[in-house]
Amino acid sequence: MSRVVGRIGARGIAELLGTWNSGRATSTGLHQAVRRLVLDGRLPPGTRLPAEREFAEAIGVSRTLVVRALDLLREEGFAASRQGSGSWVRLPGDRANTDPGGWQPATPDLINLAQATLPAPPELTEALDRARCRFPEHLCGHGYQAFGLPELRERIAESHTRRGLPTSPQQILVTNGAQHGFALVLRALVSPGERVLVEHPTYPNPLQAIRGVGADAVAVPMLAQGWDLDLMAATLQQAMPKLAYLIPDFQNPTGIRMTAQDRERLVAVLRRTRTTAVVDETLIDLDLTGGTPPPPVAAFGEDRVITIGSAGKSFWGGLRLGWVRASEDLVQRLLLDRAAVDLGSPVLEQLLLAELLADPEPVLRRRRAHVAELREALIAELAEQLPTWTFRVPDGGLALWCDLGVPVSSRLAVAAEQHGLRLVPGSRFAVRGTMERYLRLPYTLPVEQQREAVRRLALAAAGFDGAPDPCPWDMAIS
Ligand SMILES: Cc1ncc(COP(=O)(O)O)c(C=O)c1O
Repeated sequence: MSRVVGRIGARGIAELLGTWNSGRATSTGLHQAVRRLVLDGRLPPGTRLPAEREFAEAIGVSRTLVVRALDLLREEGFAASRQGSGSWVRLPGDRANTDPGGWQPATPDLINLAQATLPAPPELTEALDRARCRFPEHLCGHGYQAFGLPELRERIAESHTRRGLPTSPQQILVTNGAQHGFALVLRALVSPGERVLVEHPTYPNPLQAIRGVGADAVAVPMLAQGWDLDLMAATLQQAMPKLAYLIPDFQNPTGIRMTAQDRERLVAVLRRTRTTAVVDETLIDLDLTGGTPPPPVAAFGEDRVITIGSAGKSFWGGLRLGWVRASEDLVQRLLLDRAAVDLGSPVLEQLLLAELLADPEPVLRRRRAHVAELREALIAELAEQLPTWTFRVPDGGLALWCDLGVPVSSRLAVAAEQHGLRLVPGSRFAVRGTMERYLRLPYTLPVEQQREAVRRLALAAAGFDGAPDPCPWDMAIS
């Protein structure tokens, strides 16, 4: 049921593998490392692997070792090869992936729980009409707004100021999403070989961006109630990372929000260890508690905090707009670096977001009420169909972080595909393939579809409930 998704280059796979051979490089070590990448979703089934010689050179081993590792992967059904077409990864038992030639579209009845994203609110269409009316004013200009459209920068700055963090438009750089903003900050501040502290578990895409600049992620475990700031302080002192990447508002995937007191302590720790934190506020508008929000982390010490935000969860991911809020100097520097990557964000989308931000509260109120209903519906379905799974009801955000009780998340994701349900295993949220006991379940689908998704999930789970399945890949993921 998975599809052919493309290819990965030799450098790409070397980056993904990271330090796979702590000590001696062996074919079984490489085979296990690749298998883990397939199981935790970082190497999607259907990805064509680089040619053996290039692969071997990129990771500094002999071609024979790569050939043996591929043999082992093929024996277990994790890879397939064909003369002239090379090798590609697949999942055992997945017939759709025995042929790399065709693009296999997802079946129409596949339910996708891999992404925690909502459709656009109806108000977006009305805002688009207003933006379209204003669009012609811009057509006689060159259209390149590298910092962002001035009125959008103003609105984003105002929204920070309203939340207790006085901000000028010059402190805002409009980006193509929060992920783009983080990538720009990494490019500007982090060099290959340096470290970046992350929460564990964390949102996976920043991990990829960290690897992409040749840096190493240093993980600090999340506790059931939140952040262990003592451990974080000790890690910052010992590992001396160049940057920390944190999600204090409805942390993805745990949904926990950092208290005001911890925010103050966090900034004190950052100051003491001279560390800068990138605080990701992407989920900030999805507060489901109805309580008074704590001040933004940067309000406790903006000298140590770079804030990134996004329109993706508040309004719509398809806008592809986000921002970085930093000192004016850093914004200037990010802009210079940005020129190597892109030259600004589209004008019409920026006009549209400026319209939405002119009066965001009514839209956000409705969105929160809708999300709260979806959350309750998912909780009720799980209580009925998978009563042994546990989770902390999240304060906000878009997903439950479920404890399955046993380390089977990747296997469950594989089994669920056979039932027409796409999942992301817990290991995707881990720095190096752990978190197998957990599964992130978004509550972003319509209630009916959500119900069907849980039914399929329960069916998939029942396939190996209770009986430890002697799957050959068990050991790699526990
Ligand atoms: C915590 C977090 N940061 C960033 C992003 C990506 O944001 P954007 O779509 O604006 O790049 C997401 C999307 O799920 C997210 O959950």
